[in-house]
Amino acid sequence: MARRNRSAKTGAREKALPAEVTEYAKRRDKPQPNGTIQPAKGKLGVMIPGMGAVATTFVAGVEAIRRGLAKPIGSLTQMGTVRLGKRTEGRSPKIKEFVPLAGLDDLVFTGWDIFEDNMYEAASKAGVLDQRLLDQLKPFLSSVTPRAAVFDHNYVKKIDGPNVKKGKTKMDLAEQLRGDIRDFKKTSGASRLITMWCGSTESYIEATEAHQSVKAFEKALRENDEMIAPSMIYAYASLLEGVPFANGAPNLTVDLPVMLELSRKNQAPICGKDFKTGQTLMKTVLAPAFKARLLGLSGWYSTNILGNRDGEVLDDPGSFKTKEESKLGVLEHILQPGLYPELYGNMFHKVRINYYPPRGDNKEGWDNIDIFGWLGYPMQIKVDFLCRDSILAAPIVLDLVLLVDLAKRSSELQGIGIQEWLSFYFKSPMTVPGLYPEHDLFIQLMKLKNTLRHLRGEELITHLGLEYYD
Ligand SMILES: NC(=O)c1ccc[n+]([C@@H]2O[C@H](COP(=O)([O-])OP(=O)(O)OC[C@H]3O[C@@H](n4cnc5c(N)ncnc54)[C@H](O)[C@@H]3O)[C@@H](O)[C@H]2O)c1
Repeated sequence: MARRNRSAKTGAREKALPAEVTEYAKRRDKPQPNGTIQPAKGKLGVMIPGMGAVATTFVAGVEAIRRGLAKPIGSLTQMGTVRLGKRTEGRSPKIKEFVPLAGLDDLVFTGWDIFEDNMYEAASKAGVLDQRLLDQLKPFLSSVTPRAAVFDHNYVKKIDGPNVKKGKTKMDLAEQLRGDIRDFKKTSGASRLITMWCGSTESYIEATEAHQSVKAFEKALRENDEMIAPSMIYAYASLLEGVPFANGAPNLTVDLPVMLELSRKNQAPICGKDFKTGQTLMKTVLAPAFKARLLGLSGWYSTNILGNRDGEVLDDPGSFKTKEESKLGVLEHILQPGLYPELYGNMFHKVRINYYPPRGDNKEGWDNIDIFGWLGYPMQIKVDFLCRDSILAAPIVLDLVLLVDLAKRSSELQGIGIQEWLSFYFKSPMTVPGLYPEHDLFIQLMKLKNTLRHLRGEELITHLGLEYYD
């Protein structure tokens, strides 16, 4: 019915269009989906290691939206649309109507943390959301209590807490986590699960022999190898249970051969790392503009002032190094100094994070950018982003939960492991080894929407547009 109305409305215009356009319109009346997508039936259980500022802002936000108290601003899955077919067709459904996503009412939650605070207490301490809003949601938020965490102080030096699992070996701890996952599935009645890491940033490490295969990793777990970080134990337990794992921190976690092997074998998608929220979001918008106009860059100095627990954790050099690596990679990949040596061969890129408690979650991300133009004349750009870290991160968490669950239900995506089409959400997107990541926000968005079009058998949008002028 809706389609007939649309044709009636655009019929006059379609008659005047070139044959190729009308041919296309006929073809796409019967799109051939690529693979099958299982319906989003039943509840989706969201399991969150790390019930801090981001996690509580996400869960409280979902509940506020369910109750009609607020809107899901910033969420592509809730507010975004996807254009289908030619610009003349006027077909732009909402993403959540175009692909079968879990509804917000179907989400159920659990989490792990080293502190014993429930979601209401943790959200109140995080100080991101208005206390009056949290009080309205108190019974619901208080019901989400933390399971005991797998934690190692050596990996997050600035914090310690009492709610921690004990086990003789790291393999014992992994088994306990698998028990938690099964318990949650049973008690919540969820038909599907996803693990979403919102825990602290761990100290910087590089992959070793222990991470190269499932066999080596399991041996290392039994031998308590110190190169196995807690986040990897959560990932291992999840993937063994066939549960997808998305990583919001810059930790190595799933960016390892062992996890790719498990992910593919158990059809449990993986993606990460490090939510792209404030300063890096701006960087991946501005840098592509400079490159598009062939403007040179001599230096980019970025500094941050933040006072939440994340800021405190990042005050430790080990955790900061992990974050620094994640933030620094972006410019090299976008600007390609190898291809444009005169423009980007000598750029100086510096990133600082300063823990400054009075700011709380309200981070100030400040950038000084030295660029040069025609004949080498210098110019400067200053960006001062007074942002709210967890307000920017929460919609990303929601989108990832829903889209990773979609991947798990899609016959085309569930077995490929890394979900590169979700690069849009990350500072350090994962790719198969040897492939450089796409950082440009708009390329990432096109990749995401084209993946959705592809799944539904709709024509991919290339923006060529010559057929309008035949
Ligand atoms: N907010 C943003 O804009 C943003 C952007 C990118 C990445 N991140 C990352 O997201 C993560 C969460 O940020 P946040 O602001 O909520 O931090 P937070 O400090 O408020 O919360 C992290 C929580 O994780 C817990 N934790 C640490 N190790 C754990 C473990 N092994 N098991 C279970 N719980 C553990 C901590 O006790 C804490 O409650 C951080 O790694 C941060 O770097 C945040």
